[in-house]
Amino acid sequence: MSETSYIEGIYAKARKYNKTIVLPEGEDERVLEAAHLIRERKIAELIILGDVKAIQTHFESRGWNLEGITLINPATSPKLGSYAELLYNLRKEKGLTQEEAGKLALNANYFGTLMIKSGAADGMVSGANHSTADTVRPALQIIKSAHKDRGVSSMFIMVCNNKPYYLSDCAININPTAKELADIALESAESVLKFGDTPRIAMLSYSTYGSGKGEGVDKVKEATKLAKEALSSDEYKDKNITLDGELQADAALDMTVAKKKAPGSEVAGQANTLIFPNIEAGNIGYKLLQRLGGAESYGPMLQGLNAPVNDLSRGCSAEDIVGLVAITVLQTIK
Ligand SMILES: CC(C)(COP(=O)(O)OP(=O)(O)OC[C@H]1O[C@@H](n2cnc3c(N)ncnc32)[C@H](O)[C@@H]1OP(=O)(O)O)[C@@H](O)C(=O)NCCC(=O)NCCS
Repeated sequence: MSETSYIEGIYAKARKYNKTIVLPEGEDERVLEAAHLIRERKIAELIILGDVKAIQTHFESRGWNLEGITLINPATSPKLGSYAELLYNLRKEKGLTQEEAGKLALNANYFGTLMIKSGAADGMVSGANHSTADTVRPALQIIKSAHKDRGVSSMFIMVCNNKPYYLSDCAININPTAKELADIALESAESVLKFGDTPRIAMLSYSTYGSGKGEGVDKVKEATKLAKEALSSDEYKDKNITLDGELQADAALDMTVAKKKAPGSEVAGQANTLIFPNIEAGNIGYKLLQRLGGAESYGPMLQGLNAPVNDLSRGCSAEDIVGLVAITVLQTIK
């Protein structure tokens, strides 16, 4: 399988669903090029937010077709008032005033997220021009976690040596507790299943089976115990998910090392889902893999929300946006 064929497999799956994804950053040329490619490849229906005339001119000057793409300027949309009202009703108990709701609804990330909440779109991809916090905050406030006792986390798909690896949480939870780490593992398992793969989850640490000591090791051990308990419940037991920890990255990925450090482990040596103990390890780890290892990177995508909202890196290319839109389509599957 080549790198291209991995993402093309995702495109092929996405095509079956005919989902509508909102792209709030219509002012960005990469987003417009991605929209053109997504339309050509029939990956999703699109709504682009921004200056309608400017987007039309951009498409026309390149000979691109806008058929099937809906363009909306939040400032002149007849829906603005009802979205502001929806936001006010959702957030008034948090102290949001009607006037503040009116201003926030004009913000493209809020407007796009409110479109999802009201059923006008299935998912959103933003972040080419916004920080992670500005992209994901509306989703955390409006779309909310799907499991009420579980937080939202994030995942990167890294395609290395022609194989996909799923890395979590490299972008949202700064220093998760043991319970939060176990939840991140469970959400990751569900994401991997949605992408059509079998989760083999390694709970990563600087220790393998007690070789190292410290608070961080204790946390990963506790998280492993909690996640294993959850995986033996009726909700998960027939889903073919394996999980083990605490494991060092070499024991998780290399069978020769695994046989020495974690003999008998169902996961060691063949993990495809890597759960990092905190955001520092995760964020540094995925960037090393990308910059030194030459891995193709998709994400971060949020997991655990009631509907998918995904964040782009500000250095993203049009092709990165196409890939993340296709992944977002797969995440809409219940
Ligand atoms: C995700 C993040 C932006 C949220 O920060 P924030 O906007 O300051 O969040 P707040 O604490 O004000 O919470 C805002 C809302 O989101 C909710 N929330 C925050 N984190 C959440 C999580 N992990 N899961 C579910 N809900 C969450 C809060 O409960 C709150 O909801 P409420 O207002 O309805 O009570 C923050 O965790 C963060 O900055 N993470 C690191 C991001 C980053 O720099 N990544 C590296 C680059 S990729």
